[in-house]
Amino acid sequence: MATHLSYLERGELIVEGEGVRVRDADGRWYLDARSGFWNVTLGYGHQGIIEAVRSQVTRLPYGSMWGYGRPTEIAVDYASALAEVLPEGIDHIRFQSNGAQAVETAVLLSRHLRLLEGRPHKNAVVGLWGGFHGFGPGASAITGLSYLHHHAGPLLPDVMHTRAPHGEEGDAATNMEGALRRLLDHGPDRISAVVVEPVIGEGGHVLTSEQAAALSAFCDEHEIHLVVDEVTTGMGRTGDYTRSARLGLRPDMLLLGKGITSGYAGLSAVCLSSEVYRALVEAPVERFFATGSTHDGHPLALAAGTAVLDALADGKVFAGTRARGATLAEGLRELSERHPAVSAVRGTGLMYAVEFSENAARDPWFVNKVRLALEERGVLVAVLNAVPSLMIIPPLVVDDADVEEILGGLDGALGDLASGWEPADETKGFV
Ligand SMILES: Cc1ncc(COP(=O)(O)O)c(C=O)c1O
Repeated sequence: MATHLSYLERGELIVEGEGVRVRDADGRWYLDARSGFWNVTLGYGHQGIIEAVRSQVTRLPYGSMWGYGRPTEIAVDYASALAEVLPEGIDHIRFQSNGAQAVETAVLLSRHLRLLEGRPHKNAVVGLWGGFHGFGPGASAITGLSYLHHHAGPLLPDVMHTRAPHGEEGDAATNMEGALRRLLDHGPDRISAVVVEPVIGEGGHVLTSEQAAALSAFCDEHEIHLVVDEVTTGMGRTGDYTRSARLGLRPDMLLLGKGITSGYAGLSAVCLSSEVYRALVEAPVERFFATGSTHDGHPLALAAGTAVLDALADGKVFAGTRARGATLAEGLRELSERHPAVSAVRGTGLMYAVEFSENAARDPWFVNKVRLALEERGVLVAVLNAVPSLMIIPPLVVDDADVEEILGGLDGALGDLASGWEPADETKGFV
């Protein structure tokens, strides 16, 4: 059977990582400007995380989070430490294994609370067009990329979408009005939750604090749970523990994943406001909210998470992210003026989308070709085909020289393509 892997030689498989770089089996090193899958925030070979996981595997390699009979000590300690860095009032945490699971748990919890309130018809879940929340019958449904809605039959019912209010381009106020009008048309009394990324990963659209405040006020007025998906933006990616705190947002539920362990183990967190938590635990015991999976809150992941919090505590990673992010943004904007192939640059912190809409309309392989040309120059980036863009999302520990290397690589790759360079196979590594 042909698979994408069949396009790759064995020597091209990744075997090792150190700092911000990974090496393939043939011995070639690459600057990993996609941080694995946007998650390896503190880079490879981080001794603090390695030691924490090593020590935990010896002490207690597994402990169940299902039910509350005997949770592990590390789960309680890490939850307390994590709650300290979340926006005020978000102080209860349920650990899970990945981002999509956290999204699905949040919306099912929202609906569960509506049943407890005696409002079974307030059960619609709203996602934003262009938003991404992972794969699964709930997560794909809430994701605002229509190709995911139809590729595997009916998904979670009662999910709708509205336009993303994000961005300073055009008239930001009109964006917001358009987004909210759709919710008003639908009937806010029927909406249980709205799920929002503060920076939309698929395209780098940034929510402003005014837009965040308007959305939050709308949700408060209509008793809609505001679920902020910080799976990518949280734990340093945007230069803070959470983007919500910077925006002055205090969501009902805040979701973390990816960088929460810097990718050293699978972990996500559904973080609840005290009001949501109280509604949940004050319900009659026979109407408890059942959720969970065997490896949720795995002690090795919690050990990695604890080490990540330690590494972020002195604020240097955040300061570095903001400073390197500013350099990256400036470099990308300068580059977009010289390369007509680039139609837009958007993002914040160390997550930037470089869009190629016109070229991609002419050649569906264009974005993959840019990625392959960059790979030739030793830089790995992520491809967003639906948008169509490259996502530059390097580890937060890149230095100035690394940022220059990424910018130089992209400059060179776009130059290569403009002067007729073609990859041997334009579909190679296509995702
Ligand atoms: C914003 C956001 N939410 C959820 C997810 C899904 O996370 P996971 O891949 O861990 O299921 C992703 C993954 O890319 C994401 O970017």
